[in-house]
Amino acid sequence: MRDETPSTTAMAVAWFRGLGSLPGRTPPVVHDPFAAVLLPAVPAAVLRAAEQAAPRAPWLRSALQAVSTPLARHVALRTATIDGAVEEAIADGARQLVIVGAGLDARAWRLPLARDIDAWEVDHPATQAFKRERTGQLLGRTTPVHFTAVDFERETLAGPLERAGHDATVPTVWIWEGVTMYLHPDATRGTLEAIAERSAPGSRLAMTYAWPGYARMPAWLDRPVQAAFDLLGESLRGAMTREEGTALLEATGFRVLDEHGNREWATRFGEGAPAVEILERLFIAERAG
Ligand SMILES: C[S@@+](CC[C@H](N)C(=O)[O-])C[C@H]1O[C@@H](n2cnc3c(N)ncnc32)[C@H](O)[C@@H]1O
Repeated sequence: MRDETPSTTAMAVAWFRGLGSLPGRTPPVVHDPFAAVLLPAVPAAVLRAAEQAAPRAPWLRSALQAVSTPLARHVALRTATIDGAVEEAIADGARQLVIVGAGLDARAWRLPLARDIDAWEVDHPATQAFKRERTGQLLGRTTPVHFTAVDFERETLAGPLERAGHDATVPTVWIWEGVTMYLHPDATRGTLEAIAERSAPGSRLAMTYAWPGYARMPAWLDRPVQAAFDLLGESLRGAMTREEGTALLEATGFRVLDEHGNREWATRFGEGAPAVEILERLFIAERAG
C-alpha cells in the first residue's frame, strides 16, 4: 500500500460487487446497493446509470460484466459466501463484527443481522479516510461503526481495537477478505496473532488467502499480472497453500471448520464452473475454547 493513496483494489472489488448487483439475475448472487455510494464519482455514476437502464437493456449488464469477468464473478461468489458465513456466526452467538482490511465493504450496514451488533472496521489509514468521507450516507444501523486505522505492516490491531471499545471476552465474527495476499508473511502472522488474542472462544474468522500462482493461468501471464499489481502500489506478496494456512490458523488457536474456493462457491449458487479459476480460497475457522 502507498502511504497516501486509498486502495485501488478495494475500489475494484466494490465495483465488481456493484456489477454483480445489477438487475437481471434472479435471485442475484450478491446485492450491494451501497457500492455506488462508496465508490468514487465516475464508477458510481456508471453503476447508477446501468442500474436504471438494466431492466430495459439486459445486454448492458452483460456487456459491463463481460469486460470485468472473471474477476466480477469471483468477487460476487466470494461476497455471497462470506455473507452466509457471517450470518451463520451471528446466529450461532457472535455479538461483535470486525472487518479487517475493510475497504469499501458495506456489510455492517448491508447485512440485516449485522446491523444490530457492535461493529469495527480496521483498515489502512489512507483507505479508511477515503471511506469515512462517504459512510455518512449509509443508513440502517442501530449503533455507529467504530473506525480503527492500522497499517498491518507496521503495527498490530490488538491495542487500537481495545481502545476503540472491542471486548475480547465477547464472541466476535471477523472478516479478513482479499487482504492477506497483499501482506508480507510476517504481517499476516502478526495480524492473525492479534485477531486470536482478541477472540473469545467460539469467535469465527472468515479469511481468504491466495495459493502460489494466484490463478490457474499460463505461466507467461505471471509476470504481467504481478507487474499490474505493482503498478497499483498493491504488490502481491503473500501466497500460501491450504496446508500452510491451516498450520498458521492452528498455531494461533483457531480450528478450521471449512475451506473452499470459487468452484465450490459456483456450485453452491447454481452456476457453472468459472472459466478461469482464481486461486483465492476461503477458510472458515473457529477459536477453540
Ligand atoms: C482488495 S482490498 C479488499 C477490501 C475488502 N476486504 C473487500 O473485500 O471489499 C484490500 C484491502 O486491504 C487493505 N490493506 C492492504 N495493505 C494493508 C496494510 N498494510 N495495512 C492495512 N490495510 C491494508 C487495503 O486498504 C484494502 O482495504
